[in-house]
Amino acid sequence: MTELNVAVIGCGNMGSAHATTLADGKIRGMRLAAICDTDSEKRHWARETFPDVPVFPSTEELFSNSESEVALIATPHYFHAPIACEAFQHGLHVLTEKPIAVSVTQADAMIAAANKAGTAFGIMFNQRTNSLYRKARTLVSEGTLGELRRIVWIITNWYRTQAYYDSGNWRATWAGEGGGVLLNQAPHNLDLWQWICGMPKTVFARCTEGKYHRIETEDDAEIFASYNNGASGIFITSTGDCPGTNRLEITGSRGTLLLEKKTLTITQLTVPEEEFRFSCPNSFGLPERTIQVFQEEDGPEGHQAILQNFAEHIHRGIPLIAPGQEGIHALELSNAAYLSSWTGMPVSFPFDQKEFNRRLEEKKKQSSFISTFKNRVPEGKISDRWSVHW
Ligand SMILES: NC(=O)c1ccc[n+]([C@@H]2O[C@H](COP(=O)([O-])OP(=O)(O)OC[C@H]3O[C@@H](n4cnc5c(N)ncnc54)[C@H](O)[C@@H]3O)[C@@H](O)[C@H]2O)c1
Repeated sequence: MTELNVAVIGCGNMGSAHATTLADGKIRGMRLAAICDTDSEKRHWARETFPDVPVFPSTEELFSNSESEVALIATPHYFHAPIACEAFQHGLHVLTEKPIAVSVTQADAMIAAANKAGTAFGIMFNQRTNSLYRKARTLVSEGTLGELRRIVWIITNWYRTQAYYDSGNWRATWAGEGGGVLLNQAPHNLDLWQWICGMPKTVFARCTEGKYHRIETEDDAEIFASYNNGASGIFITSTGDCPGTNRLEITGSRGTLLLEKKTLTITQLTVPEEEFRFSCPNSFGLPERTIQVFQEEDGPEGHQAILQNFAEHIHRGIPLIAPGQEGIHALELSNAAYLSSWTGMPVSFPFDQKEFNRRLEEKKKQSSFISTFKNRVPEGKISDRWSVHW
C-alpha cells in the first residue's frame, strides 16, 4: 500500500498525539508529511521531535509548499471550518477533529466544500469504534427493542478542574471556543445519541454557564428531547460532577437496553408491552423477560481506529466509520440546546440559524478571549483522557 502524506494542522494536545501516532508508523497507508501550527513554541517542539518533517506557520504556506494529501485538523474549533474549506479547495482529503465546527452554518459550508471537492471527509468521533455503542446501534436499528419510547443518558463523567480550563485561554470562552461541555466534551455522546436513536424533532434545554468553574460557557447542561413517534429523551452532562456517571438507558415497546460500566444488558419482553398491558388479568403482572449481557471487547484505541479507517477508505473504498457529513448532527443538537437555553423556549429542527448566529455574535462581543495561545499539555495518556469512560 502506498502511503498518503498527512499534514497535521494544530499541534497541541490532540494534534501532537496524532502526529506521534503517524510518525510511529501505527497507521498502515499513512505517514506524517507536514505539521502546521501558528504558535512558535509548538513549531519548535515539532521540529525537535520530528526533525525530518517540514513545519509551517500557516495553512497558506502549508498548502502552497507541501505535497500533503490529507489535512488532519486539530486546532481550536473555530478554525475547523475555514481550514477544512481551504484544504478542500486545494483538493485534499480532510479529517477534522470534533466538533465539526462551532455553528451549523459553518458546518454547512464545510459539507458543501467537501461535496464540491469530491475528496474524503471524516470526523474524529473515536467513540463510534467502541464495541458496546456499536452493539447498541445494531440492536436498536434491528428493532430488538421494538418502538423507542424513552432514552435517558446521564453522561457526567467529563469532570474537569479549573487547571484544565486555564491551560488554554481559548477554552470555555465564547469568542475562543464557542461553547462549553456540549461543544467540547459531550459532542461524542451527542453524536452517539443520534447515531443510535436518530434525531429528535424538538429540544428544550437548560445550559448553566460557569456553574462550577470560572468560565464563560456552560459546564452543566440538561436537554429534554421529543421524537416524531412520541418518544422522549433526557441528556444530562457536566464537567462539575465528581466522579460522575456514564449510564445510557433506552426503553422500547419490546424491552430495555442498559449501558453502564463496560456492560450492555438487554432485557427483552416475550410479548410486546402494549399487548401484555391489555391482556394480562393480574393488576401487577409483568411479562416474561429474557436477559442478555455483553461486555466491552478489546480493540484498537479509538483515535487510531478512525485514522486507520480513513486511510482504508481512501485506499480501498471501505465505508467511513464517521463521515464528516454526519458530524453536523451533534452540532445541530448543541446549537439548538444553546438557542433553547438562551431563549427559554423549545427549539424544533431545522432551527433558526440566523437567530443562533446573531446571539452567538452578541456573546462573542462580551468574551474575555485574547487571541494568543499559551497551552500546557495536561498529564496522562491520551487514551485515558478521551476514550469512553464508564
Ligand atoms: N477526539 C477527541 O477525543 C479529542 C480530544 C481532545 C481534543 N479534541 C479536539 O481537538 C481540537 C484541539 O484541541 P486541543 O486540546 O488539542 O487544543 P490545544 O489548544 O492543545 O491545541 C490546538 C493547537 O492549534 C494551534 N492553532 C490554533 N489556531 C491555528 C491555526 N489557525 N492554524 C494552525 N494551528 C493553529 C494552537 O497553536 C495549538 O497548538 C479541538 O477541536 C478539540 O475539540 C478532540
